[in-house]
Amino acid sequence: MRMYDLIMKKRNGETLSDEEIRFMIEGYVKGEIPDYQMAAMCMAIWFRGMTDEETSQLTLCMAASGDQMDLSGIEGVKVDKHSTGGVGDKTTLVLGPIVAACGGRVAKMSGRGLGHTGGTLDKLESIPGLSVAVNSEQFIRQVNEIGLCVAGQTGNLVPADKMLYALRDVTATVDSVPLIAASIMSKKLASGSDAIVLDVKTGSGAFMKTVDDSILLAQKMVAIGTLAGRRVVALITDMDTPLGHYVGNALEVQEASATLKGEGPEDLTEVCLILSANMLELSGKGTYEECLQMAKRAIADGSAFDKLHAMVTAQGGDARVLDDPKLFGQAPFVEELRAPASGYVQHIDTEGCGIAAAMLGAGRERKEDSIDMLAGLYLAKKEGDPVQEGDVLARLYTCESEKMEQAKQKLLSCYRIGSDKPNTLPLILAKVTKDGVERYDIRS
Ligand code: URA
Repeated sequence: MRMYDLIMKKRNGETLSDEEIRFMIEGYVKGEIPDYQMAAMCMAIWFRGMTDEETSQLTLCMAASGDQMDLSGIEGVKVDKHSTGGVGDKTTLVLGPIVAACGGRVAKMSGRGLGHTGGTLDKLESIPGLSVAVNSEQFIRQVNEIGLCVAGQTGNLVPADKMLYALRDVTATVDSVPLIAASIMSKKLASGSDAIVLDVKTGSGAFMKTVDDSILLAQKMVAIGTLAGRRVVALITDMDTPLGHYVGNALEVQEASATLKGEGPEDLTEVCLILSANMLELSGKGTYEECLQMAKRAIADGSAFDKLHAMVTAQGGDARVLDDPKLFGQAPFVEELRAPASGYVQHIDTEGCGIAAAMLGAGRERKEDSIDMLAGLYLAKKEGDPVQEGDVLARLYTCESEKMEQAKQKLLSCYRIGSDKPNTLPLILAKVTKDGVERYDIRS
């Protein structure tokens, strides 16, 4: 078999066989197939797509390319959640503790931010002392003891994805439905949970910009997970505007912590409650309605906040910062962005906000860059809010003053202010299960 022939086959729109996909992934991970040939294949897939069978085979081969977690030492249904990536997306820090407080078992492998999207591991590492490098023994013990562990992937989990993702990132082949589906589901299958809730983000801050494309991606991922014997549900959630008011690592931990105390913004609270209820339902804790009420009670009675405390402490972090956010410290350079005109905030370019936060130091441009944990944004005004000329639209935080001006200009360009109040869309736009699609909007 020759990689050259497989590239030509896909370029011509033909279907690759199971053996051909296995040959390609095994050869790539062993270093026998060079990056330039795999890059050509990714581009051929981007243009030609893959059948469901090809996407499933790609996922299974990628999942089998390294270690697979054995979670059989954890009692009960192990439930995981994966977001396709967004701006201000701190949902894991809120729903993990809620689900654990309701008796769920959250065994969560998270990732880092890259480009305009944030990553849970970076957010957690803003907590002094906290380690996300948890070995499998500790991982299992912690989930058994407190119901919750959020850790980084072990060294050799899905090496095929690590290599492919880095390659796609520099060859303009990230936003391909089969490649995203295989990337996400290979990691979910290898990390061993029984039940998976997929949070498929849609809109200007997401990789999938339309609801139709997001549904297509969700359907593929649900089908792959179901075929592999996992219980899977996908929710299509709004990422046309940032989630909550804060973007940036320590700032987002503070907002997540406030949300668990019942003092969070409405959009973040609602999305987290709905995702939690789906995770609990998949874990067999009751009907959707019962699970939703349970999740609300876990916030109201403080038990969810206590779980975050317990997880931070178990992973070596100083949990006092959750009680007193001032202990995080504040970035020394803070500036306000003021409204240039009166009217309504009609739209916020969410990818642009992620880029502005990264320009302040909250994200990386390259994998090896370090992060300014205190940098980021407070978005005082969001879509639909009325504003008067001169009102504070947002606040910018950084530890490096020279980064401020460019980021401020970038953020200003993200706000569109006009005289008409925009229509707001539901936060949850659709739900995809193995039985079909339920749509809650008409946007496409
Ligand atoms: N998140 C992933 O893990 N993989 C992708 O390809 C896109 C988002």
